[in-house]
Amino acid sequence: MKRGLILPVVVLAMIAVASGLSSGADAPLPSGVATAGRSAFVGEKPLVARLPGHTFDLPAEAVRCINCHAPSTGTTGQTAFAPLLTSRYLNELRSRRGGPGSRYDPASFCRLLREGLDPAGVMVNTAMPRYDISPQGCDDLWAHLSSQ
Ligand code: HEC
Repeated sequence: MKRGLILPVVVLAMIAVASGLSSGADAPLPSGVATAGRSAFVGEKPLVARLPGHTFDLPAEAVRCINCHAPSTGTTGQTAFAPLLTSRYLNELRSRRGGPGSRYDPASFCRLLREGLDPAGVMVNTAMPRYDISPQGCDDLWAHLSSQ
C-alpha cells in the first residue's frame, strides 16, 4: 500500500521540477535593445570585424562575442579564454592589463570594440577582433551586457 504510493508521488515531483526548469529556459527574452544586443553577442545578427593589422574581414561566425566570452560552463562546450563580461566586471573600478584603475562607460566600450583600447588607453590582446560597429550597435551590446 505504502510502496504503491511512493512511485507516483516521486514521478509527479520530477515532472513538476522538469516543467518548472524548462519553462524557465523557454521564457521570452526581454524586448528592446537588450534583445538586439543579445542577438549581436551570440551571432544571430552578424557583425563585421577583422584582426588588428589585417585588411580582410573575418567570417561572421568567427567574430561572435560568445565564441570567446562565453561562461566556461556555457552551452558552447568551450572553455572561455576571454573575460566573462558582466555588468559588474565592466563597471567596477579595476586595474586592467596592468594599467591604472578604470571602468567602462558606453563611449569607452564602443572605442574598445572599434580600436581595441580599454578605458585607460591600454591596447587589449590582438586576439580580440576590431569591429566596424555603429553607435547603435555599441549601445545595444552595452545594454545587453549591462543586464548580465
Ligand atoms: C576571437 C575572440 C574574441 C571575440 C570574438 C571577442 N573578444 Fe572580446 N576579448 C577577447 C580577449 C582575448 C580579450 C582580453 C584581451 C586582454 O585582456 O588583453 C577581450 C577583451 C574584451 C573586452 C575588454 C575587457 C577588459 O578587461 O577590459 C571587452 C569589453 C570585450 N572583449 C568585448 C567583446 C565584445 C562585445 C565582443 C563581440 C562584439 C567581443 N569582445 C568579441 C577575445 C574576443
